Amino acid sequence: MALVARLNAALPFRALQALESRGFEYAWHKALRRSLSRRPWWKRRLLYGDARKYWTLRGGDDYFREQEGQHARRLRAAWVAERVASYQPESILEVGCGYGRLLFEIQSRVGVPLAGIDFSASQLTAARRFLPAGSQAALVLARGERLPFADRSFDMVVTSAVILHNPLPAAEAIRREVLRVARRFAAHNEETDETYNRYGYDTAAWYESQGIALAESGPIPMDLDQRTSQFCVAVLDTRR
Ligand SMILES: C[S@@+](CC[C@H](N)C(=O)[O-])C[C@H]1O[C@@H](n2cnc3c(N)ncnc32)[C@H](O)[C@@H]1O
Repeated sequence: MALVARLNAALPFRALQALESRGFEYAWHKALRRSLSRRPWWKRRLLYGDARKYWTLRGGDDYFREQEGQHARRLRAAWVAERVASYQPESILEVGCGYGRLLFEIQSRVGVPLAGIDFSASQLTAARRFLPAGSQAALVLARGERLPFADRSFDMVVTSAVILHNPLPAAEAIRREVLRVARRFAAHNEETDETYNRYGYDTAAWYESQGIALAESGPIPMDLDQRTSQFCVAVLDTRR
């Protein structure tokens, strides 16, 4: 039994399993993700040339397992949802909702119209499974750079670890779209560190550079690295 368990945990064995069950592209992608950690430049070029493909291949189910296995991640989503709810928004859009953990936490705190968009079909499939039946959250396949919603159509727009995963032109387009679609508030949990798939933006500083006031800005208490953790809420309009 111990031998079987050790074999199952071995990287080459898991790679073989991935190859068998999901095909070459998925297995190659997974192997790259687990390697090249000392070569972030190469890793970005080989693995993150197309962000949408990366998140689709990474897969909603794998991402779900990785995240749900970390207690601190669930605590963080709950903390962000508490902050979001404290502004009493009348409707909320989450851009880049992934498998829906934050939507789930928000939904259990506020009873207002809720929507999530994501550009990865595999993430949205996982969200449809994860969110409880009868969830009031509408899930839409779309890019953050071009939101399929009218100007000022949501009281608050939220992003959590999304802008940071986009190269500068796309990140800038998402910020502009957030400003167009949000009525009163934009809330962001976007860390500032740079890795092979993160671009290292300071979202709070960006709002300040645009002359937009922040209601709050600071690290999330349960994040391990307080220097790179950031949650901020921009106030776009004070009228209800
Ligand atoms: C790190 S996950 C975060 C998921 C979720 N917000 C959370 O906090 O659990 C990033 C998600 O954003 C999505 N995403 C990244 N860039 C995007 C873009 N430009 N447009 C739409 N979705 C995007 C990815 O597909 C992925 O599901």
